[in-house]
Amino acid sequence: MAKELVHLAIIMDGNGRWAKSKGLPRTAGHLQGLKALKKVVQGCIDNGIRYLTVYCFSTENWKRPEAEVNYLMTLFTNKVYGEIRALNEMGVAIRLLGNREGLPPEALRNLDKAVDESAANDKLVLQLAINYGGYDEICRAVNALVAEGVTQVTPELIRSKFDNPDIPVVDFIVRSAGEVRLSNFLLFDSAYAELGFYDEYWPDWDETMIERIKKDYSSRVRRFGGLV
Ligand code: IPE
Ligand code: IPE
Ligand code: MG
Repeated sequence: MAKELVHLAIIMDGNGRWAKSKGLPRTAGHLQGLKALKKVVQGCIDNGIRYLTVYCFSTENWKRPEAEVNYLMTLFTNKVYGEIRALNEMGVAIRLLGNREGLPPEALRNLDKAVDESAANDKLVLQLAINYGGYDEICRAVNALVAEGVTQVTPELIRSKFDNPDIPVVDFIVRSAGEVRLSNFLLFDSAYAELGFYDEYWPDWDETMIERIKKDYSSRVRRFGGLV
């Protein structure tokens, strides 16, 4: 089995705990988390990873206090597009994953602009999972098939209705901050993904974590149900 790490996905967790450990408000953790993301993106480029999917906001995160949700939405609205020049220089193409319904129109407008203006970049595809839920992804895909009159589904048909079916299935899903669960992330595509859990809070991540992750992945044996 080819063991090249092509598509890495990250559950970026621990922003709040990082901030708390420093006596800062939770929002400071989210801002620092964005800085960590830039370093991690560079680390992925340096290590030849072609696709990076990051869990930015789950369909469950709406349960958080309104002020925190608003802060996160403002980050998605202003900061992602604000980084467009840097992202273009790095060769990063932005893609969106998740349910557009419920996201503020201004956030969508700026995120769509970032997608459009970075589409030609070919070093790394950075898939931002915003208002993403694994249940929602599967249900939206199945409902799209039902609307077309499909009465029998297959895994391939379901996947064909995902937001970005051209992006290869994830190889390695990692999570920061020591929690050991998927929290509704990539439920379908995680079927045969390798999983990795790291104690460091997300805002403390940088390029060196990606070197570690690449090394850890290279020691995994992927059998996909067969024998190696
Ligand atoms: C991850 O960090 C960021 C989002 C879920 C948006 P958290 O905000 O979950 O940080 P902790 O888990 O409370 O430390
Ligand atoms: C998962 O983190 C969602 C994101 C990283 C965006 P959470 O902090 O929301 O997950 P739980 O609630 O601890 O499972
Ligand atoms: Mg958390």
